Amino acid sequence: MLVLGIETSCDETALSVLRCSGKLQNPKFEILSDIVASQIALHAKFGGVVPNLAKREHLKNLPIVLGRALKRAKIKNPANSIDTIAVTVGPGLEPALWTGINFARELALAWKKPLIPINHMEGHIAAALLQKLKKTISFPALALLVSGGHTELVYIKKPLQYKMIGETLDDAAGEAFDKVARMLGLGYPGGPAIAKEAKRGLHATSYKLRVKLPRPMIRSQDFNFSFSGLKTAVLYLLRDFTQEGYNIKQLRPLIAREFQQAVIDVLITKTLRAAKIYKVKSIILGGGVSANRELRKQLSKTLESQLSNVQCHLSPLSFASDNAAMIAAAGYLHAIKGDVLRTKKELLSMKADATLSL
Ligand code: KG4
Ligand code: ZN
Repeated sequence: MLVLGIETSCDETALSVLRCSGKLQNPKFEILSDIVASQIALHAKFGGVVPNLAKREHLKNLPIVLGRALKRAKIKNPANSIDTIAVTVGPGLEPALWTGINFARELALAWKKPLIPINHMEGHIAAALLQKLKKTISFPALALLVSGGHTELVYIKKPLQYKMIGETLDDAAGEAFDKVARMLGLGYPGGPAIAKEAKRGLHATSYKLRVKLPRPMIRSQDFNFSFSGLKTAVLYLLRDFTQEGYNIKQLRPLIAREFQQAVIDVLITKTLRAAKIYKVKSIILGGGVSANRELRKQLSKTLESQLSNVQCHLSPLSFASDNAAMIAAAGYLHAIKGDVLRTKKELLSMKADATLSL
């Protein structure tokens, strides 16, 4: 089955064609094309994503990216080759989501293909299925999803059966990375910039500064998170040290390192506790923040030493951030189950849902 995936929930216009086979428990994917047109440079000047600007760019990019995705997949006549179209319907920025939905709907009507509405977070879970040396995921599984808009722990009893057991009560992990990066005078997106500074901080033993940040909610018995206090703690730390005469350049690597470690400690502690209580067989890591190498390394190591019977499935680095291959992969799982929209009435009923949850 050839699935075309379309993703426009935030600031990436992404289309991908996957050749999919296999059953729900053991799907196989061949990536025929995976094109992402990023708007990061455009939004960077504003320090974050501007929804209407994103919409304008998606509208401009969608036909171009489709052309490239089909060409790369060597598809000349999509109406004959593509079997189904999967599109992100939420959560995300509403004006941005609508551009993908309307585009997908036009294609489905013109090519006479079924359409599959996909939850963006489900896409981040499906990204783990795109590993090159894929191990079959054993269920029940637990997904730790960490992106710019969400931080969630999702219990997956079996494929497509999701139950959110914890989420952030305020800022998402990626959002905290972005905000702290801004305080430190680093650019947008903040995640990669903080990670880079943190690496420098690892070797910055020359300063004897005590840079210590809290690990919010690390001991709470639920599976929720809170990162907004951490951001405020960074603000105070920065203020106190600058009053003592230290400059931001000296502080940056140390604060970045401690901030990154605080986020990692909370994420890993809560994930491990949930894994034990829910007796899962696998842990899946997905979302933009899952590109963080320290998080990947420390999660795998901790699992190996403390829960060695639990498999660890990290989203491949190239599919951690927003992309359409993960949307097509999630679409295939629904297609197997027959969860597709076929009639014109069904296609027209599809809507964007900015706050859609799993
Ligand atoms: O999943 P994603 O691409 O978009 C959303 O669905 O939100 O996630 C984007 C987030 C941004 O906040 C970005 O700063 C963060 O992922 N991010 C990282 C890293 N790379 C991207 N955070 C920490 N470390 C990274 N290496
Ligand atoms: Zn995302």
